[in-house]
Amino acid sequence: MKSLKGRHFLKLLDYTPEEILYLIDLAKKLKDEKKQGIPHTYLTGKNIALIFEKTSTRTRCAFETAAHDLGMNVTYLDPSGSQIGKKESIKDTARVLGRMYDGIEYRGFGQEIVEELAAYAGVPVWNGLTNEFHPTQMLADMLSIQEHFGRLKGIKLVYMGDARYNMGNSLMVVCAKLGMNFTACTSKQYFPEEKLVADCRKIAKETGASITLSEDVKTAVTDADVIYTDVWVSMGEPDAVWEERIKELLPYQVNRNVMELAKENAVFMHCLPAFHDLNTGIGRDVYEKFGLKEIEVTDEVFESSQSIVFEEAENRMHTIKAVLLATLGE
Ligand code: CP
Ligand code: NVA
Repeated sequence: MKSLKGRHFLKLLDYTPEEILYLIDLAKKLKDEKKQGIPHTYLTGKNIALIFEKTSTRTRCAFETAAHDLGMNVTYLDPSGSQIGKKESIKDTARVLGRMYDGIEYRGFGQEIVEELAAYAGVPVWNGLTNEFHPTQMLADMLSIQEHFGRLKGIKLVYMGDARYNMGNSLMVVCAKLGMNFTACTSKQYFPEEKLVADCRKIAKETGASITLSEDVKTAVTDADVIYTDVWVSMGEPDAVWEERIKELLPYQVNRNVMELAKENAVFMHCLPAFHDLNTGIGRDVYEKFGLKEIEVTDEVFESSQSIVFEEAENRMHTIKAVLLATLGE
């Protein structure tokens, strides 16, 4: 395999299965080093910029801790603290930051924005989430599945809820690339867009993966190894859509019934943050307006022994570290 040095990390469609598996393996090695207290300051003296046009806990903290562990310095640009978009175009921002930094992370809106940033930066650009894709999350999820089941190929992953946004799209792509069985289980207006489904089915033919779209919970979930969900209203979407989302997606809530239909040793996954109780502002608002105490996943499933959501969250850091090292190192 050719070195990944100098490459952007914008979406997994740009990466071969071999490259994706390489990044997961590298993350495993870096995780071991971290657990054993072995220093890995392989990128000492480098500087990276983190642009966040949407808020974050995991992605920002993962980039920052990973960069520090590798010996790098970080500048964080928050959703309101820079000229981006309002006074300065992405193309100009890319050319400014590209002269100061060794790499740039971007979290924001359309995929075309991060692609434009990458086209003009002259240094590696990493996608920290767009409306369409969340590729760093995929590496963490795959590492978590591999650690849990000891394999990826042949695993049946069922994604429930809003499958036409960043998480549904990205999981379908990574499953296609890695020979896994992906099912989007949701109402048909939330299926991923046809062109992406067709592209993934083409990839699936070569890798032995399968891509299924189903509105029927029982058929979709039976024999699942992984049940995955995400919020029903994503960052950047208006609050006004909550009402229709609840109406249309409540049949696809992950609850005890769903977990009982899946394999006995199935796991529950969620990229987080999750609405599973009334301990969040949005959770309480939804309860007051619609009387729903738990949204995309019940608290029972979220807190159960089948839930591996916090392993997943930790793996964000190890896998982002692998991306930084692979694209900036030797
Ligand atoms: N999963 C994830 O991207 O979390 P944050 O929004 O906290 O970064
Ligand atoms: N679909 C969610 C993912 C958050 C990590 C969002 O875009 O808000």
